[in-house]
Amino acid sequence: MPCERTIAKARVALVQGDITKHRADALVTAANAGLRGGGGVDGAIHRAAGPRLLDACRKIGGCETGSAVLTPAFDLEKRGVKYVIHAVGPIWGGGTQGESDLLHGAYLSSLELAAEAACRSIAFPSISTGVYGFPVAKAAPLAIETVGAFLRGDAGSLEVVTFCLFDGTTYEHFEAALGKLQE
Ligand code: APR
Repeated sequence: MPCERTIAKARVALVQGDITKHRADALVTAANAGLRGGGGVDGAIHRAAGPRLLDACRKIGGCETGSAVLTPAFDLEKRGVKYVIHAVGPIWGGGTQGESDLLHGAYLSSLELAAEAACRSIAFPSISTGVYGFPVAKAAPLAIETVGAFLRGDAGSLEVVTFCLFDGTTYEHFEAALGKLQE
């Protein structure tokens, strides 16, 4: 079921499904620090954007965990997407290795890059909660609160932030977190 909240002058929306089918100025992928492509949402975005995306990633060379880099969207441009933002979340190591700060950083860097690029809309997957093993019960409120704080501050051009969540359990955790977010 779609779900959304207005925070300051922007909207935060949740949808369940494949992020590559979503139209936003920027789509965020859950990348690895080597920007080498992979499975999961990163594999889906690389397939949809075509091989020039991996070439662009190779030229950049890598991205620190807890940060993000921006590239063109290549083949996704014909679907109205301008940029792919490659966000590198942490691998869950039990929660004592700064994982929460790093996940916060991955979301915040993505939002900052989108605003710098004058994007009006951005769509996120649930970063780090797949093969990287970050518990979604902790990741969902962190993601929602990071977006909420950004929108209450200087959100720049951003008007819509959508989370495209692949499975029902992940969606439910984000729905609960969005319901608790202060306006
Ligand atoms: N659209 C939206 N969400 C998706 C899609 C998709 N097409 N495919 C998978 N997901 C979901 C997963 O179900 C999970 O909830 O994205 C979330 C993140 O999972 P992963 O893609 O495994 O990302 P992450 O845990 O951050 O691991 C990153 O995986 O593929 C590699 O290159 C990537 O090495 C990096 C690592």
